[in-house]
Amino acid sequence: MEIRNIPEYELARLREKAKEIKGATTDYEKEYTQLLTRRLNHEPLQYIEEYVPFYTIQLKVDQRCLIPRPETEFLIELIKENSKNPKNILDIGTGSGCIALMMKALFPSAEVTGIDVSQDALSIAIENAQLNSLAVNFYQSDLLDNVDAQNIDLIVANLPYIPEEKLASLDKEVIDYEPIQALNGGVDGLEVISKLIDQIENKHLENLMLCLEIDSTKSGQTLDLFSNWEEVKLYKDLAEKDRYVFARR
Ligand SMILES: C[S@@+](CC[C@H](N)C(=O)[O-])C[C@H]1O[C@@H](n2cnc3c(N)ncnc32)[C@H](O)[C@@H]1O
Repeated sequence: MEIRNIPEYELARLREKAKEIKGATTDYEKEYTQLLTRRLNHEPLQYIEEYVPFYTIQLKVDQRCLIPRPETEFLIELIKENSKNPKNILDIGTGSGCIALMMKALFPSAEVTGIDVSQDALSIAIENAQLNSLAVNFYQSDLLDNVDAQNIDLIVANLPYIPEEKLASLDKEVIDYEPIQALNGGVDGLEVISKLIDQIENKHLENLMLCLEIDSTKSGQTLDLFSNWEEVKLYKDLAEKDRYVFARR
């Protein structure tokens, strides 16, 4: 990437970050050049700045976790509107911990758990819990393998949903820096999500609401996975794309 491709607001933010690292408002050129080089190598601005705002909280982010997206902030908004006083909340594929931590912030009396298959992601989620003084329990599990989910009344999951064959065509910012485990949804993009739905059904979990963020181009196929569920609803994101499925059983 060339410097003319980097918008002025990003350059300004890199300059501010260089000043913060140097602890001075002058004589920060060396730090600025290092940060600019990282950005020219396609590293996302958010990893360079190290922190991102998410809904009402602040999160640390680095290559251990996916950078939370605005679509996921809107998922939080929808859950807030559609969920009445959940008591036991599980966030599957927690990454930075963004969803689990916001659930605790919105529903302080609920017990909130965040799980991830990636130990790296869990380590940053735990840092983010401390950063925001929010009591969420984080541990490792491949979907529901290590989870006793009998009392869970709200499951939220933003699982990987990009089909394997599309991974190579993602922007360098994404494919060269964000964790592949956070992106790869298998052959059809639905492998992880359909495995989760099977697990919920096979474990006979009931009296719960499942809220998923999905690939907008796969809404029909995703809805087909819910043939045994009640009250299955599809919601659009702010760009008017099919993006979320909420279902009860
Ligand atoms: C798309 S990222 C979402 C991260 C975060 N929840 C967010 O919304 O920004 C998907 C996350 O699911 C995790 N993951 C992938 N496969 C998983 C599995 N089988 N079991 C648990 N977590 C999984 C990844 O490590 C990654 O952190």
